[in-house]
Amino acid sequence: MALRQLRYREDEILTKPCKEVKKFDEKLAILLDDMYETMQKAEGVGLAAPQVGILRRAVVIEVDDPDADDSLEENPKKIMEFVNPEIIAMEGEQTGLEGCLSIPGWYGIVTRPMKVRVKAQDRDGNWFEFEGEALTARCICHELDHLEGHLFREKSQKMFSEEQISNGEVEEQ
Ligand code: CO
Repeated sequence: MALRQLRYREDEILTKPCKEVKKFDEKLAILLDDMYETMQKAEGVGLAAPQVGILRRAVVIEVDDPDADDSLEENPKKIMEFVNPEIIAMEGEQTGLEGCLSIPGWYGIVTRPMKVRVKAQDRDGNWFEFEGEALTARCICHELDHLEGHLFREKSQKMFSEEQISNGEVEEQ
């Protein structure tokens, strides 16, 4: 595995739509492994291929582990990969702060569905469905937007710097 260079802010690649993954080969496996490593090193909860300069429909996301023991107080997390993902159902609404590894130090208030159901392939091309709620749903929507060349700031009415947030300047919703 290797770290990949993150793409930031005005980098044009972040505004371009991604192409469908058609080859489920070693190259894809290496890309996904590198994305896991790059996301963890940057302490992110999601990363889309264009953020490392690759215009392919692949994302990695830290989700609530669906196999975890329900009695645990804090939901354990696991990292999942979604290739050629598509949202097939959504429900409810949530409004809250959102950030992005490509726009470090800035956050925005964005409204997203509370629950989403996504259909995707794994690195071997097997289709699966996954349902995410709350932060996981927010993250899925955010990462899938990257695949269309959209950044969260386009959906945010107002952006806040890290400093403004620690000063409590975020307006109440
Ligand atoms: Co992002």
